[in-house]
Amino acid sequence: MILPVIMSGGSGSRLWPLSRALHPKQFLALLNENTLLQETINRLDPASTIDPLIICNNEHRFIVAEQLRANGTGSSDIILEPMGKNTAPAITLAALAAIAKGDDPLLLVLAADHVIKDVTAFQTAVVTASDFAEQGKLVTFGIVPTHAETGYGYIKQGEKRTQLESVGFDVASFVEKPDLTTAQSYLDSGEYLWNSGMFMFKASRYLEELAKFSPKMLEVCTKAYESKSQDLDFTRICADIFAQCPEDSIDYAVMEPLCKAEDSQNAIVVPMNAGWSDVGSFSSLWEVSEKDESGNVNHGDIISHNTTNSYINAGHKLVTTVGIDNLVIVETKDALLVADKSQVQDVKKIVEKLKSDE
Ligand code: GDD
Ligand code: MG
Repeated sequence: MILPVIMSGGSGSRLWPLSRALHPKQFLALLNENTLLQETINRLDPASTIDPLIICNNEHRFIVAEQLRANGTGSSDIILEPMGKNTAPAITLAALAAIAKGDDPLLLVLAADHVIKDVTAFQTAVVTASDFAEQGKLVTFGIVPTHAETGYGYIKQGEKRTQLESVGFDVASFVEKPDLTTAQSYLDSGEYLWNSGMFMFKASRYLEELAKFSPKMLEVCTKAYESKSQDLDFTRICADIFAQCPEDSIDYAVMEPLCKAEDSQNAIVVPMNAGWSDVGSFSSLWEVSEKDESGNVNHGDIISHNTTNSYINAGHKLVTTVGIDNLVIVETKDALLVADKSQVQDVKKIVEKLKSDE
């Protein structure tokens, strides 16, 4: 059986002011009535997966518990991090929790904030990945890139491998978040896939690789996990110990060095064509949303004239627009964002400014 591990601790700052520190994007219903977290759970194949393990920040425990309850998701374990230390420690805690149950399951590591339109294609890719993960490989899911995005990891597809009926590729190299020139050259070469940020491996294999590349992280996480406390469904990680954990993502801490190692035959990429998007910004949210005949995505009370290719979200007021193109307008109770849709990556700069003014 496969244990889905849903990483739900991000801040989604580029979707401000919809996404807030206390209510980030994974907890928002951006495309339909379900939140991204609920959709992540609902697209799992119940025939091959057990109830997911959710790992999130302590501050979000009630939102997570409530969203699971509303979704009818049974008995999920919820691990609470006292502070965010990025994805590598989060996955480490999940792997330790899985092994503590006396088992060494395949972990299907998922981000809580992605959109995947083709559920069947996703489930097929998971089955393919599990054939390789059973053999001890660390598997990533690769997406055919469409532009030179600098916010993603890039995977160079190596030799073709087959396992049972499944086809995957060696990871010839893994480069996390390259600069724009490098990203463009990767795109032009046609040899690279985007890293989707979803992974699959045996819990023990991840810990083995982490022990090589970041022994301190493994040591601190192990101690912090051993000093945990249990509170109903919540597993609370010891704050004093976890505070000493190095902060890093799985991409930098494990995948990049793993794929650099000379003798590495340990990583496999499974290409996935499933209408994936990480809805990282308002432009990608606009892309995956349904548009009207003028290319606008409208939520709420909006009257527009001569308005094209825009994302408009009116939370509380009537929003009216005349003669605009390619804009993002997000109106909430206490904040208004107006941005050029081609520059929405920089919405996080506003969040940084807000934080520094606090
Ligand atoms: N529990 C927990 N704790 N979850 C976290 C933490 C943390 O400290 N930090 C991030 N997460 C969750 C986020 O909520 C998200 O679901 C997922 O882990 C990935 O984190 P992001 O912060 O969104 O990563 P990213 O988008 O910059 O980069 C990753 O995803 C890209 C694709 O979307 C990388 O894996 C890239 O290589 C990849 O291309
Ligand atoms: Mg992300």
